[in-house]
This record gives sequence, structure tokens and C-alpha cells, in this order.
Amino acid sequence: MRLFSIYKVSLFILCIAAVPVFAQKQTKAQYINSLMAKMTLQEKLGQLNLIIPGDGSVTGTVVSNDVEGKIKKGLVGGMFGIAGLEKIKKVQEMAVRASRLHIPMLFGSDIIHGYKTAFPIPLALSASWDMPLIQKSAQMAALEATADGLNWTFSPMVDIARDPRWGRVAEGAGEDPFLGSAVAKAMVIGYQGGAGNANLATGNSLLSCVKHFALYGAPEAGRDYNTVDMSKLKMYNDYFPPYKAAVEAGAGSVMSSFNDIDGVPASGNKWLLTNVLRNQWGFKGFVVSDYTSITEMINHGMGDTAAVSALSLNAGLDMDMVSEGFLNTLPTSLQAGKVSMTAIDAACKRILEAKYDLGLFEDPFKYCKSARASEVLSADKRAFAKEAAMHSFVLLKNDNQVLPLKSNQKIALIGPLANDRSNMPGTWSINADAKQAVAVLEGFNNRPGIGSKVLYAKGANISDDPVFAAKINVFGEKISIDTRSAQELLAEALSVAAASDVIVAVVGEASEMSGEAASRTSLDIPASQQKLIEALSKTGKPLVLVLMNGRPLTISKETKLATAILDVWHAGTEAGNAVASVLYGDYNPSGKLTMSFPRNVGQVPIYYSIRNTGRPNGGDVFGKYKSNYLDVENSPLFPFGFGLSYTSFSYSKPMLSANSIRANTSLTASVILTNTGNFDGEEVVQLYIKDEVGSITRPLKELKGFQKIFLKKGESKTVSFTIDEKMLRFYNADLKHVSEKGTFQLFIGTSSATENSVSFQLQ
Ligand code: BGC
Repeated sequence: MRLFSIYKVSLFILCIAAVPVFAQKQTKAQYINSLMAKMTLQEKLGQLNLIIPGDGSVTGTVVSNDVEGKIKKGLVGGMFGIAGLEKIKKVQEMAVRASRLHIPMLFGSDIIHGYKTAFPIPLALSASWDMPLIQKSAQMAALEATADGLNWTFSPMVDIARDPRWGRVAEGAGEDPFLGSAVAKAMVIGYQGGAGNANLATGNSLLSCVKHFALYGAPEAGRDYNTVDMSKLKMYNDYFPPYKAAVEAGAGSVMSSFNDIDGVPASGNKWLLTNVLRNQWGFKGFVVSDYTSITEMINHGMGDTAAVSALSLNAGLDMDMVSEGFLNTLPTSLQAGKVSMTAIDAACKRILEAKYDLGLFEDPFKYCKSARASEVLSADKRAFAKEAAMHSFVLLKNDNQVLPLKSNQKIALIGPLANDRSNMPGTWSINADAKQAVAVLEGFNNRPGIGSKVLYAKGANISDDPVFAAKINVFGEKISIDTRSAQELLAEALSVAAASDVIVAVVGEASEMSGEAASRTSLDIPASQQKLIEALSKTGKPLVLVLMNGRPLTISKETKLATAILDVWHAGTEAGNAVASVLYGDYNPSGKLTMSFPRNVGQVPIYYSIRNTGRPNGGDVFGKYKSNYLDVENSPLFPFGFGLSYTSFSYSKPMLSANSIRANTSLTASVILTNTGNFDGEEVVQLYIKDEVGSITRPLKELKGFQKIFLKKGESKTVSFTIDEKMLRFYNADLKHVSEKGTFQLFIGTSSATENSVSFQLQ
């Protein structure tokens, strides 16, 4: 025992000596320069090496070997896929005590929508249109994750996405660059404790990583990792803005994407990573590759490991995630003159700077404070998870004001997702424990006086197809195929329905039906559940669909059959409590879609800010030789910005303080918004602008502002927006950010389909 304490004391002294002394008087540059002066080439390359030990989530086929040996030799800059404070602490100890220069490591993770407490999936959070709430979600996630050893998150994912076949639409903020930019900024500020890197060293903040740079959200045919081919105009006007907004907010790192851009994969694309990111946007942080995206360039046909690693470094990529091409091939490439020491130094320096900003040189164990353990899954996180979920729900239909439910009604709670915990956290919630999640049935039972009025039946499997289920269940059972037959399940559901006043059917996608490598060519609700919905609708009882989904689904038929639809996405740990609260009217839904819902998959890609053709269609009326379909209307089933409330709102015509502006003046556009219904509620007031004539074809409408307004029933309020020249700018054919004089139409309304407009001039 005594021996042990002596050992402990001497180890402590050794440790103090081993951790690099943080000289307060030195500037950051001096500190890093003097450290780098001591580093060998291998140690520098070690900083560029991000590894995964393979005991956490793995999204590729490769994991790292001889982890311990490499750390001790100083050959590892950071690690991810390692969970839990004690483990992280051990590894950090290894790095700062056993390696020659004692450089602390970064510990990353995909903290995408919450950490152990799962918040709604990002697409859902974006539907709240509530930037303070979104910022708080990132801040809460940072508090929880830094209390558990982590200092770096691979978030926000800000890829604009207009093709719901692509499963990763669940991880982003939808189709619009203006909204996407606002969300990107809010997330970065939330994670990093403020704009820029000033608050990174508090110990409560995470270094953010904007991904996937760039254009990852536009793969051909919606198939994950597929080729992207896009005009520069579309990149600059539609797809780049959220990345740029995140960089301007001070994001400390950027992740390169898997796809190619103009024929060169993003991870080796110098135009993208240096010209655009660093030279045009002034990015000062470091760029990390996506999972083995450097060596995946071999498959893209860019050469062998040595060639692709050199290509990446020379393009401006600093850190190699998992593939270890940098570590293994750059020494030879350096000798052969294929890469320079200047490039290696620049990359190493950027990573050390991030570590410095996080305060890791000052205290490598800043994020390993066991005293903070109670912050994980704490009551305040759960309360916030419920609040965030309620704010993200979108009411798509509510005939006869069937919602909110009345507390005296008998409810048939039916559906494969009605009594399910495992799907509640949603895709990319690798750190969340689904057992902690609240199922919808539990949410109902948690309400005093309601449990006895609820009858439950599963009704159907999420899918009856075992081959499909196996693809979804790779990381755990999300689709469980019942031992009872489909007929038995349905019969039980119908008898439960017969004994109740209202049917609430919880249906949709399993969480892993969206997310990474979860592309679909059908956006339908699986057949097993369609049959259930059809049968339930035939009972003639009011049918409320609670839709769970990670992406827009094609629900034309179900929309006709249902009396009401509440889209609750995958709502996180508190899903069940939030669903019950909203269905019973504790909170009046205020979410609005951030991706258009197509009528059928053939309309995809579908988004509101389209440019006109020379042969515009006449709305949904078919016209020969017009730009329309023979077999479906042109409009989406539900447009971007759409969402109902238990109350109703009316808009006055927009009023302008002046009919024109100049480069240095502004005008005010306002509407009177009135709550005309029977409930207090919030409305997202949306401002769109159309540039009537341009030097390039311009979108029919572009979101330029929004405000979330609370009004008591009967109350009115004037809602105003300032219009200036800057918000009329776009990238022209020379990629110059300009405005052009002329007439603009301005719309203020409840969704992107609004026609409530006036005109003004830019002189
Ligand atoms: C994903 C990234 C993620 C990374 C690390 C990749 O497969 O594309 O979004 O951050 O894995 O988990």
C-alpha cells in the first residue's frame, strides 16, 4: 500500500515534469514555434494523424493498429471513436507522459444533435427556425461532451440538400442557403462558446468542425458518396454560403468531403481547400479529411497512396482521418520533392494552434474532470431535449381541429414506432443510450390521468422485409419483425381502434433508414405500414398520424387518408414526452419545413428557389409545351417553409416605408400579423425576394429573412424587416458578389408559396 503511494507521488512529480510548461509570457506563436523547433519530421507527421481505435462507431472498413505504440512515439495527433472520460484520460496520459514531447491529443466525436442526451435530428432542429434554440442545442451538447472527456465535434453538417433520396439530409438544415447559413453560425457559436476562438479554452466548449466541404449534399441520384457535378454559379450562390457562414463565425476546423468537385475529389482539391477556403474566405483553422477520404482517392483514380497523400497535403489538407497515408508516405514524398517541409510545417502548426486554443497545453486534462460527471444526462439537458423536440415538430394537416387531443378521449395508440425507444434518438446519435429514451406510449402514460385512456397495439412492423431489416440493423435492432403475422398485428390494432374515440398512429422510418449510407430510391412509408394506415382510415375514426422520419417522405396518399399529421422526425431522448405534450396542446406546434416534400420521387430534386424556364408551367394546371409533368403536378406536396398551428394567422399586405433604395439607404417592409384562431401560438414570418431582371437567370424567390413571433389569440403585431442593397447581392457570371439595379418583388408570408407581395426598386 505504502509502496503504491510512493509510486503515486513519484508518478505525479514525473507527470508535472512531463507536461510541457505553459509559459504564460510566451505568445501563442512563440510557444508553438519553440515546440516545433524540437519536433522531428515523424513527430510533425504524427500531429497530422487522426486515428480510431475501433472500439466505438466505425463508418469505414479500416481501423488503426498499434494505437498505444504510436501514441508513445508521438505519432498520433488526435483520436475519435473512443468513449468515456476514464478511457480518454488514460490515453491522454499516455500522450503527455510517455511521448517525447508530451503533446496532448485532440479527442473528437460525432456530436451531431446532442451527446448522451439526444436532441432532435438536425433537420428537425432546423424546422424550429429558432436560432437561439439551435445555438443552445450546440452549447448543451458541448457542456455534456466536455464533461465526458471530449474536446472536438465533427459538427455542424451544413451541406445544402435538395434530394431526399440522400439519407444524410437528416444531418443538415435542409435546402436553403440563407436558413442554412443562420443555422451554421448558431451551431458554431454554440459549440465554441461564442464567435471565434476566444472562449475555446474555458473547458466547456468544443472545437467545431464544419462538414462536409464541399457540396456533399448534391450527389448524383441521391446515392451516398456519389459524384457531384455543379456549376460554379450554383456552388457560390446556393451551396457555399453555409460553409462560409460557419467559417466567418470562427469554426476551428473544416472536414473535406468524400465527393469530387469539377473532377477533383474534395480531399485533394487545391482550388477548394486553398483558393476558396483560405484565400477567399480567410479560414485560419485546420482541415481534416473525412474517414479515409484521402486513400479513397485511389478509387477515384488519382494514384497510389503516396500520390493521393501528397495531393491532399499540397491541396491544403492538414489532418488525415484514419487512412495514415500522411504518416506512412510523406517522408518519401518529401525526399522526392513531391511535398515541401513548408507544407508539412504549416499543417502541423495549424493543429497545434487548435490544441493551444483549446487550452490543452495549459492543462491536457481540462476535459477530464470527473467532478463534472453529473452534467451528463442531467435533468436540465433532458428538459432542453423536450423543449427542442416540441419546437421542431411540424403540423402538416389538422382537419376538424382534431388536434389538440382532449383529455377525456379514448385513444388507440397504434404503430410500430409507438412503443419504441431504440429509434427515438435518431441517426448519428452514437453516444446516446437509447434505453434512456422515452417511447411515445411512455410519454402518454407519463401524463396524469391519460394512461388509463390509452390502448396500445403495434399494428404492423416498420418493414416486413427481413433483408431490408438486416441492412438497417447493422449497429443494433431498429426494425424488429414480430413473431405474429401481419394479419394478427392488424387485427389487434383494429380491435383497439374500435374501442376508442381517436386513433393516433405512430409510423414512418426507423432511424437508420436515413443518415449515412442510407440512400433510398423510394420515399414511401414502407408497405407494411401503408396497409395499416389504409385499414385504420377505413374505420371512420379520426386518424392522427405521428410521422417519424429523417427526410421528406412521399405521403400523398397518407395525407388524404389522415385527419391530421404531426411530423415529429426523430425527436431524441425525450421524444415520447414531447409528442404527448404537443398532441395534448401544452405546446402549440410552430415548426416549418426546411425541405420541400415531393408528391412522388420522380419530382426530386425539388426545392422552392428554382429559376424560371422559358416555358414556365401554369402552376399546377397542365399545359402542352410547358415545363411540367404529365402525371403529377409541379408543386410539392408541402412546400419549404410550410407548417400549420393549432391557431391561425392572417397577414396584411406588405407595406414599404419607401418604394426604392440606393446602395447606402434602406427601407422597412412590414406586415400586420394577427392571431385569428383560438390558441396562443408562434408563427415563423418569412421574407422572400425575387430579382425581376438580372445578368444571369435568378431564382423565383429567395429567403432573405425570418422572425419567429409569439401572439396570444386575438393579438396583432407589426413585423418589420430592413431591406438594403447588401441582401440583394448574388454571385454573377464572373463570380463577383454584386447587386444589379432594377425592380424587385418582396414577399412576406407563411411559407415559400406565399404570393403576398409588393415591388420596390434598387436605384
Ligand atoms: C462521415 C463523417 C463523420 C466521420 C467520422 C464519416 O463516415 O462522413 O460525417 O464525421 O465518418 O465518424
